[in-house]
Amino acid sequence: MKNKSILLVLILSTLIMSCNNSEKKEANSTKKVSSKTYTGKTITHAYDAEIDNIISQMTLEEKSGMLHGTSMFTTAGVERLGVPELKMADGPLGVREEISRDSWAPAGWDNDYATYYPAGAGLSAAWSPELAYRFGFSVGEESRARDKDVLLSPAINIIRTPLGGRTYEYFTEDPYLNKKLSVPFIVGLQENDVAACVKHYAANNQETNRDFVDVQIDERTLHEIYLPVFEAAVTEAKAYTMMGAYNKFRGEYLCENGYMLNDVLRDEWGFEGIVISDWAAVHTSVNSLKSGLDIEMGTPKPFNEFFLADALIESVKAKKISEAELDIHIKRIMQLMYTLKSMGGQERTAGSISTEAHFKDAYDIASESVVLLKNEQDLLPLNVSDIKSIAVIGANATKKNSLGGFGAGVKTKREVTPLEGLKNRLPESVQINYAEGYQEKYAPKRAAKFGEVTQERKETIDELDPSLVEAAINAAKNSDVTIIFAGSNRDYETEASDRASLDLPFGQNELIEKVLAVAPNAIVVMIAGAPFDVNTIKEKSSALVWSWFNGSEGGNALADVLLGSINPSGKLPWTMPKDIMDSPAHATNSFPGDEVVSYAEGILVGYRWFDTKKVEPLYPFGYGLSYTTFDFKNISTDKNSAYTESDTIYVSVDIENIGSVDGKEVVQLYSTKKDSKVERAAQELKGFQKVMVEAGQTVTAVIQVPVKELAYFNTESRSWVVEPGSYTFKIGNSSRDIKKEITIEVE
Ligand code: BGC
Repeated sequence: MKNKSILLVLILSTLIMSCNNSEKKEANSTKKVSSKTYTGKTITHAYDAEIDNIISQMTLEEKSGMLHGTSMFTTAGVERLGVPELKMADGPLGVREEISRDSWAPAGWDNDYATYYPAGAGLSAAWSPELAYRFGFSVGEESRARDKDVLLSPAINIIRTPLGGRTYEYFTEDPYLNKKLSVPFIVGLQENDVAACVKHYAANNQETNRDFVDVQIDERTLHEIYLPVFEAAVTEAKAYTMMGAYNKFRGEYLCENGYMLNDVLRDEWGFEGIVISDWAAVHTSVNSLKSGLDIEMGTPKPFNEFFLADALIESVKAKKISEAELDIHIKRIMQLMYTLKSMGGQERTAGSISTEAHFKDAYDIASESVVLLKNEQDLLPLNVSDIKSIAVIGANATKKNSLGGFGAGVKTKREVTPLEGLKNRLPESVQINYAEGYQEKYAPKRAAKFGEVTQERKETIDELDPSLVEAAINAAKNSDVTIIFAGSNRDYETEASDRASLDLPFGQNELIEKVLAVAPNAIVVMIAGAPFDVNTIKEKSSALVWSWFNGSEGGNALADVLLGSINPSGKLPWTMPKDIMDSPAHATNSFPGDEVVSYAEGILVGYRWFDTKKVEPLYPFGYGLSYTTFDFKNISTDKNSAYTESDTIYVSVDIENIGSVDGKEVVQLYSTKKDSKVERAAQELKGFQKVMVEAGQTVTAVIQVPVKELAYFNTESRSWVVEPGSYTFKIGNSSRDIKKEITIEVE
């Protein structure tokens, strides 16, 4: 162990290093890398007197107009008083195409093309707060170029079940990774004078019955698993808006849930921004406002029929709510407008859209998100000089995912498919033999059974067309190398319905087995946003790669990984189960409920369940291979003595690249508390650091663990309690590949 003063020097030099973008080798010194802190700017109060003056001149009707949608994605302004509309757009994959003012039909503009960024699961698989910040900043610039005030993003609910329809859109099953990516995303976005709308607050972890299901979560689990990301969004990133979710929580709809909106969000966390409802998630006029909602948005019915429209005006007249109470919400909205500079004549970020710089942002995120799951005999990267022909098999080689399914996509001029990516990157001398292999086909809608609940969803047709199979087999037989592009797409993984199983749709398993029978070294590339049953593929294929709905440059990034100009560094942001019944929500038979869903697994969500219950996953949380090998050495902390609650623990570990190619590794730190007074998961992620290490070099990763991160939520005192005693920190490159351990003491 080093003494404190040496460590202080180390930390200072680390910070200096991390401000310096140079990644050059340094003679005789080990480079040190640690993470940056991202903090957002608060809502301004500088114009409060002006706002009060404007409000004093407003009519009741004008006030109501600001509290509800008067078009699909705007609320009313008050022109005579210089109050603009509040303009919003989806969403998580980039700025959604312009929607008509009074229906979901596209507005038909020709200047609303945008960059398609990797979906949430792709961003999180990169395990990079820096890239999350870049994503946020980049899409913030696009939002301004489209003249938006609020971007309905990021979508960051915890992935409770792999079957969730929005798993592809959300980040992760782990609350720590979730907040470490969400905070920089929001900060970057809001630096462009546009508000993030963090969604969906909260406990919105399934699509089945999402309009009414009543979610029951115990208080400790709520605070330790489902709320940390929202709390960090408010207290660290200073998110300006939150989206209230559709469902109920403990009997009350989330858009009129006084406990969640007034007590937790505003009183406990100090939220000063505005709460916007999900589209058509409001059920009352007076109660919703009193419970903490500010703006009601919705789907087509005449806008004056919204709860915060005519009905609210009537309620004020009937003295069920006072105009002064309305003013509280109006004032918040105008404070937001001054903060975003849509009021006050301040110079505002103009933004830019679909630029090469933004496509590069999308490329960089995609290239760090691809996960190498299996690579026997070093099949990958492909050595192009040995290859004359490549069979490219599977409809996913050409499938586009920027649009599709139910919910927000992006209209883009650039979406490089995997096949196009290979064509872009391979020399012309390499012949590509493409075969579709399977087709994306659906039967008319049928009811699918989810536990007790039956839900309508599209059933896939899983029968293969023999002529397509034959063509695929021939392509494989006649090529030096075969790559199968399998998985799903955004029609299959979609908002508004959960998947019925982990099965690969459209007969893909059968196709893959048939191709592997003639081409045993075929490489399988999955393109999907959520776990699938790849047991057989894992067993029978020699190389397995996981890519995502990966944005405008997804195909180029994937080709660069397959061909080796990018060394893969993605890590799974969730656990891939062997069987859906191994996953906690399913093992406890508590998904999807019926009228009510009780999260019976409690705090044991995701890998916390698998590790505590000793269930073997197919691939663990945090897993992902590289084309090089990293050695973890010299783990140390900054103190010999016990830490106090206000301390930050600096854990440093040397990462040596002992292979022959440069690469990035994600150093992960999991904490275990033995002899705890309360139930604890076997281990919990408490820190990580992505480091670039050139071949033959060593880099020191410094992971900072604030002692308060080790706390549990005490429901009696309603506070976070750090138990004294020893904690074991496990350091590795996946939750199941721990290389070093160190024990620290807390007073
Ligand atoms: C989704 C939101 C989205 C909204 C507006 C809802 O169905 O849940 O995430 O922002 O629609 O498109």
